[in-house]
Amino acid sequence: MRLFPAFFLMDDANVVIFGDGTNAERKARLVLKTPARISLVAQALPDWAKAHGDQLSLVQPHAAGSALDTACFAIIALDDDDAAQAAYELAHAHGVPVNAVDRKALCDFTIPSILDRGSVVAAIATGGAAPVLAKDIRSKLETLLPERIGALAALAERWRPAVKEALGADTDRRHFWEQALRGPVAEAVYAGNDAGAEEIMAKSLADFSGDQSKTAVGPVHIVGAGPGDPELLTLKAFRLIQQADIVYHDKLVSPEIMDMVRRDAERVPVGKSKGEHLVPQDGIHELMIASARDGKRVVRLKGGDPFIFGRGGEEVEALRIAGIDASVVPGITSALGCAASAGLPLTHRDHAQSVTFVTGHARQGGVPDLDWEGLAKPHQTVVVFMGVGTAPLISERLLAASLDAETPVAVIENGTRTNEKRAYGNIAALAEIIETRGIRGPALLIIGEVAGLPAEAQTQIISEALA
Ligand SMILES: C[S@@+](CC[C@H](N)C(=O)[O-])C[C@H]1O[C@@H](n2cnc3c(N)ncnc32)[C@H](O)[C@@H]1O
Repeated sequence: MRLFPAFFLMDDANVVIFGDGTNAERKARLVLKTPARISLVAQALPDWAKAHGDQLSLVQPHAAGSALDTACFAIIALDDDDAAQAAYELAHAHGVPVNAVDRKALCDFTIPSILDRGSVVAAIATGGAAPVLAKDIRSKLETLLPERIGALAALAERWRPAVKEALGADTDRRHFWEQALRGPVAEAVYAGNDAGAEEIMAKSLADFSGDQSKTAVGPVHIVGAGPGDPELLTLKAFRLIQQADIVYHDKLVSPEIMDMVRRDAERVPVGKSKGEHLVPQDGIHELMIASARDGKRVVRLKGGDPFIFGRGGEEVEALRIAGIDASVVPGITSALGCAASAGLPLTHRDHAQSVTFVTGHARQGGVPDLDWEGLAKPHQTVVVFMGVGTAPLISERLLAASLDAETPVAVIENGTRTNEKRAYGNIAALAEIIETRGIRGPALLIIGEVAGLPAEAQTQIISEALA
């Protein structure tokens, strides 16, 4: 490690910046995010600096030495080589370390790519080898760190003395902080509920100091994993599956997403595929409740969105009855994922003014008792979930309700996954399309004029007509 990262405390710091151009402005803007005072060594105050009079003052070049007397570091942002060299020597004569923009030979330290989340600051440096790479790494970190992680660190700082007083032993304190900063306190802060977080913190500390064996119970996170493409997972879902101790997952959750679960977490398949229930719904409730009561961080991971034909509502209810908080993290439903992947707009000003999601599978088997007349009306899109097995009946009911036999349909299997299959035709040929294209599911049926819009729909329909 040629570079040694260290963070300056900037509360009472002075920073000297030589220059008044764009580079000086960029560096000044970084320093202005801290409470430090800036002495700007220039002939006159540039326009960009005028709004910061409370934190930044002009120092004439002949007086730079006295500004350097109290400086913790100096930044040289001068175009002229001789002037930059002179500034460097002056700073060194005052024992002040220097960063000179674009002049590696005049740098005692480099300024890293900075990720600023309030009390949490991360710095990424490549020693000038590849600044773009440092920026890319910072962007990746930005997507991983919750926006309010700084607020969580600030809360921890406020509570540190109280925790120290309540919990004598180092290991107790470590356990307590692990629970607090990875559990409900953190979730409340991330959700913007600072007052709630303070309450939970007070209660957790009282519980923990009263009975060290007590463990925090819940919340259980019911998380939507999206339709399959791992890049369609939300950042929140990603964070929660990385923190979970145990993940109860459906069959529909793709293996790429399961690979993102924390390596040492338990993975329990409970899901169903086409009527085959690995664990009955009540059993899933019992498992989640038992794990939460054991103090585990539980995630229930479901395909698509938990509240779209996902039985998420029943799970929330079962947890509520058991006195355990549930949080629901939405996922991209397969309807949206499949439509986007096929380039098929579910609504369109000229073709569909509404979209309806229906299930094609009745609780007791067969096709459900839907409002077929309503669904057969023009200028709308109908998306059928779980409709592969009942497709012949669905087509029959819609045609009997006077839907035009030429109405386009798209059947999309394994949407957004590498094995996605799309087949097009019209409602009268729905059963045949499924049969001839070997569609087994999971698949959606998209019915309405919009299903004829993708370019590939036109060619597939034509080729079927020719066949
Ligand atoms: C029990 S429902 C769950 C729906 C899920 N909650 C959602 O929002 O997508 C299962 C049905 O969703 C549809 N489905 C789920 N993932 C799919 C995918 N990747 N491609 C096509 N259809 C999918 C199929 O109709 C499947 O039978």
